[in-house]
Amino acid sequence: MVLLNGAHVLAYPLLLILCAQWSFARRHSSKRALIPPAGYINPAAGGGQMLTSIPVTYPAGLGEPINAIISAKSDPAVLVNQEISGGLLNYFLSFNFSIECLGQHLGGDQSANLGDGNGFQNETAVIRYNYGNPHTGSCTETIQGGNHFRYWIQNGTAANTGAIFLAVSYEQSMTAGHDIVPNGYDFGRDWLIGNATSQTSLIPTLDLSSPTPALTNSTTNVTTPGSPGFLPQYTGSTSYGNYTYQTTTTYIQNLLQNSSTGINHYITVEMDGRPAIDGLVALLEVQITSRPNTSSPNTTRPQKASNGRKNIQLMYPLFLLPLLPALII
Ligand SMILES: *[C@@H]1O[C@H](CO)[C@@H](O)[C@H](O)[C@H]1NC(C)=O
Ligand SMILES: *[C@@H]1O[C@H](CO)[C@@H](O)[C@H](O)[C@H]1NC(C)=O
Ligand SMILES: *[C@@H]1O[C@H](CO)[C@@H](O)[C@H](O)[C@H]1NC(C)=O
Ligand SMILES: *[C@@H]1O[C@H](CO)[C@@H](O)[C@H](O)[C@H]1NC(C)=O
Ligand SMILES: *[C@@H]1O[C@H](CO)[C@@H](O)[C@H](O)[C@H]1NC(C)=O
Ligand SMILES: *[C@@H]1O[C@H](CO)[C@@H](O)[C@H](O)[C@H]1NC(C)=O
Ligand SMILES: *[C@@H]1O[C@H](CO)[C@@H](O)[C@H](O)[C@H]1NC(C)=O
Ligand SMILES: *[C@@H]1O[C@H](CO)[C@@H](O)[C@H](O)[C@H]1NC(C)=O
Ligand SMILES: *[C@@H]1O[C@H](CO)[C@@H](O)[C@H](O)[C@H]1NC(C)=O
Ligand SMILES: *[C@@H]1O[C@H](CO)[C@@H](O)[C@H](O)[C@H]1NC(C)=O
Repeated sequence: MVLLNGAHVLAYPLLLILCAQWSFARRHSSKRALIPPAGYINPAAGGGQMLTSIPVTYPAGLGEPINAIISAKSDPAVLVNQEISGGLLNYFLSFNFSIECLGQHLGGDQSANLGDGNGFQNETAVIRYNYGNPHTGSCTETIQGGNHFRYWIQNGTAANTGAIFLAVSYEQSMTAGHDIVPNGYDFGRDWLIGNATSQTSLIPTLDLSSPTPALTNSTTNVTTPGSPGFLPQYTGSTSYGNYTYQTTTTYIQNLLQNSSTGINHYITVEMDGRPAIDGLVALLEVQITSRPNTSSPNTTRPQKASNGRKNIQLMYPLFLLPLLPALII
């Protein structure tokens, strides 16, 4: 038994305060520090880029376009990388996209530098169109091909917006080597937007890059910084697990190049003499308009728990801290 001398009487409350502050800071460090007016920070502003990096390409050094962003102005619940509580993975399920087939991860990781101080980070996960079957449908996509995306979270301390950056593309079947279909970056982006906003007809991808007067008429004025003001918005709702999400999509220019330079698979993706990508990025603002009636927390294991592991890391040193005064005599 250690006797409590004067130093220990002082040390204990001091350590408890330090301990509480540290724990508070840790718990809140994952919260977004910043919600910029645009809903994201351009990665280029922090030395990042809107093309991914791929370990091996022919020729070397090609990347895929990050062509959609879920805005930091979305409901905070949507920006949490979990399925429970209406989180990001539940939102993806609401428009028929699931985590990879039976938890398998095929293919090499791509990395992205979102200019948030974290440098190049591997993709958080690959999410595939599930053909209406949330449990095994992404296996169908892996085999037959279809729409899919990789995503990254802009959460480094230099630009901690919480915005989610997606590299969307429509790929061919496994036997065809998962190449990208002609115009598959732009089509993949727009079919995803068509699904996420419950459109009844296809978004006119080829018109977006050369707007016609008819198309300009259908728009409301776009006030998003950096946008030219004439591209259309698409709004619609989707639901899963009794959460309903309303998604409003705005197309923005000048984040991505309007050319084939440096684009992976550019030879097969270029269609009718157009560049491999049109340079447009779809910005999605997602609001939750309806939640399950039950107020009891959902304790079912999520598809992919990113938080559980962090909590254990957090708790472990906290157990040891109160013992410190007994050790430093
Ligand atoms: C940032 O997001 C990644 C997922 O892409 C996650 O692994 C990481 O823990 C997050 N960092 C913070 C500080 O929340
Ligand atoms: C990314 O994943 C690869 C394995 O696919 C690994 O070798 C590499 O270290 C990872 N990079 C980072 C920055 O985590
Ligand atoms: C998801 O798939 C189901 C079943 O095929 C379909 O009824 C529903 O319309 C799809 N939802 C979206 C948003 O595409
Ligand atoms: C929804 O996604 C599917 C699969 O990618 C696609 O075939 C369909 O055209 C999309 N719907 C809309 C309205 O874009
Ligand atoms: C992209 O460039 C092509 C010409 O290469 C042009 O026709 C098209 O309008 C441009 N699109 C955008 C969105 O600037
Ligand atoms: C677009 O607007 C112009 C002038 O405002 C009008 O003359 C034209 O009929 C409109 N077109 C459509 C398809 O609404
Ligand atoms: C768009 O903005 C212009 C100029 O600010 C204005 O004249 C026009 O009425 C606006 N159109 C709509 C549909 O709000
Ligand atoms: C959704 O709500 C209905 C009606 O309240 C309920 O029967 C069902 O179990 C709920 N589903 C989920 C996944 O919470
Ligand atoms: C929640 O309760 C309200 C009123 O009791 C009902 O109208 C609504 O359908 C319920 N929603 C779900 C998802 O069960
Ligand atoms: C609870 O979580 C499980 C697994 O993540 C999910 O399948 C279910 O839909 C969730 N229920 C509600 C009411 O959110």
